[in-house]
Amino acid sequence: MDRLVIEGGLGLSGRIRVGGAKNAALPCIAAGLLSDGPVTLSGLPAVSDIRTMLKVLEGLGCAVTRTPSPDGLELTAAIRAVELEKGELRAPYDLVKTMRASILVLGPLLARYGKASVSLPGGCAIGARPVNLHLEALQRMGAEIQIDKGYVEARVPGGRLKAMDHTFDKVSVGATENLLMAATLADGVTTLRNCAMEPEIGDLVDLLQKMGAKIEGIHTATLVITGVATLGPCEHTIIPDRIEAGTYLCAAAAAGGDVVLDRVVPEHVRALTELLDRCGCTLTERMGQDGPQLRIQREKGQKLRARDITTAPYPAFPTDLQAQAMAVMTQANGISVIKETIFENRFQHAMELERLGANLRIDGGTAIVAGASPLMGCTVMATDLRASATLVIAGLVAEGTTTVDRIYHLDRGYAGLDTKLQGVGARIHRVSGGTV
Ligand code: EPZ
Repeated sequence: MDRLVIEGGLGLSGRIRVGGAKNAALPCIAAGLLSDGPVTLSGLPAVSDIRTMLKVLEGLGCAVTRTPSPDGLELTAAIRAVELEKGELRAPYDLVKTMRASILVLGPLLARYGKASVSLPGGCAIGARPVNLHLEALQRMGAEIQIDKGYVEARVPGGRLKAMDHTFDKVSVGATENLLMAATLADGVTTLRNCAMEPEIGDLVDLLQKMGAKIEGIHTATLVITGVATLGPCEHTIIPDRIEAGTYLCAAAAAGGDVVLDRVVPEHVRALTELLDRCGCTLTERMGQDGPQLRIQREKGQKLRARDITTAPYPAFPTDLQAQAMAVMTQANGISVIKETIFENRFQHAMELERLGANLRIDGGTAIVAGASPLMGCTVMATDLRASATLVIAGLVAEGTTTVDRIYHLDRGYAGLDTKLQGVGARIHRVSGGTV
């Protein structure tokens, strides 16, 4: 099993190009089921979650061609979903258990083919993560759903979903995406209220509109979708990954240095940049050749100030950057109170940070971090993607050698994290094989 070995204590300096957003790419791939295609998606990050989602579509009968970018960090995929109804339209447990976003094929399959068999994802390291909001809303559109032997067995009597006026009980990124895709081919005008407003949903709306969907309310909590009979082919480039961008901003803030991010949408990381600004970092936005850039500066020896954080749906502070921001707070002077309101078990990085020397306490959904603490390298491992990124950040700060084990979590969502960090002067390298 691969691991990352980091010699910490160095500041970071240079440029990093942000890749395409994993969490925008996953629903966009699922949307490929809605038309014969080809739906050609560029800027897909070359990470294992994307490979899994493409495999799910191939398993359903889609033809997928993949073209890697010259640096191997991204790929373009052309998806053709033709005559899938001849198959059993099944997303199997083996794939779904490794990636929950597979549930996003349910809405498109029901909308286009009136039937689907999708494994329930099962447990997750960061929280219970049920899919009741997806299923309840699809039932309101006329789908008949049963859970049988761990699978969501769904069919639509008459073949076409019916429009509805629906208010989600809770803000959910995935449920918003699933129902949005389902409504594009439904009979009538669907209104979805209390939708998530994450930029990834805006990207999905953009793609669906290019395919011919009629959607109003992009970037708002109310989406109005007029169902059409068919959707067509299109080409689309995935938005830059705000969580990857945020991870590198946290790395520079924690380790110190002067880093410029290329291909970033500053608005998408505003909650983080405002926090880092209040902590004492200098953030500058400017226009580069490749679009907007973000520069973060924190001189070596410059003290950070501790600040409190509460995660909440966009545009508030994202749960997907909570762990990375915690690593920053270990280096800030004072007490930081971090409240996680989205997932009930998303502090697993805390104990590993403690092993590196952080001073913190967990009380339910709240973490209290007292800084600044000197960190000392050791072997750590994490149980999820963002927690792993946090341990890399802590390893960049720590004196001596930090080994981050189980980096298959990182490989699910970060393309070339080690090479990108090497590019800004970090001493980090991947070691293949060995013990866990
Ligand atoms: C998406 O997950 C992201 N994944 C997650 O990214 C992210 O942490 C999360 O949104 C919140 O921003 C993808 O986009 C692929 P939710 P999702 O439905 O859609 C509860 C990462 O590190 N809920 O918005 O699964 C749920 O338990 C990850 O890249 C229900 O109760 O999240 C949670 O408490 C991990 N019933 C809250 O809603 C449901 O049916 C928000 O979850 C659905 C959700």
